[in-house]
Amino acid sequence: MAIYLDNAATSYPKPEEVYRGIEAFVRASGANPGRGGHRRAVEAEAMINDTRRLLARLFHAPRPERIVFGHNATDGLNMAIKGVLRPGDHAITSVLEHNSVSRPLNQLEKEGVITLDRLPATAEHLIDPDQVARAFRPNTRLVALTHASNVTGTIQPIGAIGRIARGRGVLFLVDAAQSAGVVPIDIENDCIDLLAFTGHKALLGPTGTGGLVVGERAEVRPWREGGTGGDSTRPVQPEEFPHRLEGGTPNIFGIAGLREGVRLLLERGVESVLEHERALIKTFVTALARRDRLQWYGADTVIAESQGVGRVGLVGVNVPGFAPSEVGAILDEQFDIAVRPGLHCAPYAHEHLGTFPQGTVRLSVGILTTADEMRRAAAAIDEIAAE
Ligand code: ALA
Repeated sequence: MAIYLDNAATSYPKPEEVYRGIEAFVRASGANPGRGGHRRAVEAEAMINDTRRLLARLFHAPRPERIVFGHNATDGLNMAIKGVLRPGDHAITSVLEHNSVSRPLNQLEKEGVITLDRLPATAEHLIDPDQVARAFRPNTRLVALTHASNVTGTIQPIGAIGRIARGRGVLFLVDAAQSAGVVPIDIENDCIDLLAFTGHKALLGPTGTGGLVVGERAEVRPWREGGTGGDSTRPVQPEEFPHRLEGGTPNIFGIAGLREGVRLLLERGVESVLEHERALIKTFVTALARRDRLQWYGADTVIAESQGVGRVGLVGVNVPGFAPSEVGAILDEQFDIAVRPGLHCAPYAHEHLGTFPQGTVRLSVGILTTADEMRRAAAAIDEIAAE
């Protein structure tokens, strides 16, 4: 039986409630929200706003209308980075970022629009808040950091960094692609001004969903302008949220599925999902017959000795003598196990680990992964390592 351990790329399978939620909405309603004012259009708008309210509860966001839907976390990050930075600004980021943060910032730097500092990570794969504090300049407008690295799995001290940024009057953008739905997020408490999230990973929705939560302090210029379903008389994009940043027909089928995913997480509790995922990674590590045969980059001891505290449910390893791509192919073809080998769209994180350019083999679990699957994955890796 196939084993899917690539949940950091997208969660699969989705819970039944998500499939059923999409189908029910598509069959019963399926109209374009706000365009027409007929009963189905009103229902579609109500469904989207209900999803905003559920996400606002999950993230402790005070104003649901400031939850803006887009295609994914990349969309939210681009919206934020290109919407707030201005010529002459300075931004702070880190080596742990995904290309969806690094590339837009690098491009603005290359064009001479901004200056950029990319902070190193500690040996524990963390961004040190004191180092962030030391990087501020008079023209710093934005700190853009990941909440949980998609390469190392380490959860960053975003609360401490957020409070420092707030104290300096600098905007704090958090990439929650790997944390939303699996790590508790409190926008108010952690002083987050902009939170980019994807709907298709731990939030359990379909691909093509995600977006940006925009705090009161953030002035975000729209980067996608267009129809907003109402008040068509205005020659330019309306000021009000969410319409300011939501030009064009939204992915209503996707959002209908996302609503069920978020509902389920609120019922079950994010902490219990995180506990489940850490337990699965521990099962994998302890089930390996010879874990000393693998290269771990520090993860094995953290997981075995402290229950994976400070990490999300993913682990990167290498098997000496094999390229990560070879291990990925063997797992796929001979064992029917799906993992993601390579650089995971995060080249600076792999430079930090010393695994650039070949990368690592990443196993990532989800809400529906079982302990038995982890034991079978460990047996498969043992077999490859013994060759
Ligand atoms: N960013 C996703 C990953 O880490 C796709 O695999």
